[in-house]
Amino acid sequence: MNNLSRLEKKKLAKQQVTMASQADRHELYQKSVQDTDVELELMLEKYQEIRGSEPFSFREDFCGTALLSVAWCQANPKRTAQGVDLCEQTLDWGKQRNVLPAGEEVASRVDLVHGNVLEPREPKVDITCAFNFSYSVFKTRDLLRSYFQAAHAGLKDNGVFILDVFGGTEAIDSTKEKRKIEGEPFKFIWEQEKYNPVTNEILCHINFKFKDGSKIKPAFTYDWRLWTIPEIHELLLEAGFSKVHVYWEEYQEDDEDEDYLVASGDYIEVTEVENQESWVSYIFAEV
Ligand SMILES: C[S@@+](CC[C@H](N)C(=O)[O-])C[C@H]1O[C@@H](n2cnc3c(N)ncnc32)[C@H](O)[C@@H]1O
Repeated sequence: MNNLSRLEKKKLAKQQVTMASQADRHELYQKSVQDTDVELELMLEKYQEIRGSEPFSFREDFCGTALLSVAWCQANPKRTAQGVDLCEQTLDWGKQRNVLPAGEEVASRVDLVHGNVLEPREPKVDITCAFNFSYSVFKTRDLLRSYFQAAHAGLKDNGVFILDVFGGTEAIDSTKEKRKIEGEPFKFIWEQEKYNPVTNEILCHINFKFKDGSKIKPAFTYDWRLWTIPEIHELLLEAGFSKVHVYWEEYQEDDEDEDYLVASGDYIEVTEVENQESWVSYIFAEV
């Protein structure tokens, strides 16, 4: 063994059974990044606030494994969902692991479409989402406006489009943010590798590190443009949306230490806020 070259040792280590080699990156992603209860509550609450009614038909753009589409339909038998994604492999994973296990009745209301979100889709729906900043793959104003036009065309007259956006002074730093996932033997690591101030492009990765020291690095890579809220706001209006609402997370005093503020999980409509090191905000646009 000692006579092996470094390269041979590295190759051997790679062949070993580790926690990373046995893990499934889509499962890890769902456990670390997605919280369907929070997303569903936010969509329903704000739709009700804006439209005064309940949405039933839903389109999940950039749906990936369609976890949210399935949760949407599971929560109410009157609901339907269409998930759209470019990656057939990810859609297949979602079908086998999320849609079919939900049972025949729920599965009959979830339509997975292998396609580009830049193309307008039928049927028109009440609400469309683009979560986890996925629209950031569109790096020019023209492309992002085209996407917003397609989203607009795929909505009913009472339709609402929702997307999330992140920012803050830390969003342009080269950083690694590690997070433990409760009850799981791995850590989630968000790595911002590069930021280009000339173009506002940002290169990020999701990595996973396991208890045995093994890693999946990178598990996912995102080559994005970091869009700002006013740019998105303007492009939504240019794409035909009539009104844009920006929702910001409220902070409250920490129960244990009143000198600290903690995120409350409640979002309120804002037009001005104090700058923060890091924030995630939601934008709702009315047809
Ligand atoms: C960050 S993942 C989002 C997964 C999920 N929606 C979520 O909220 O976690 C981005 C997904 O967008 C898909 N995607 C990228 N460009 C796309 C496009 N032009 N049309 C449809 N899907 C696209 C990728 O295949 C990938 O599954």
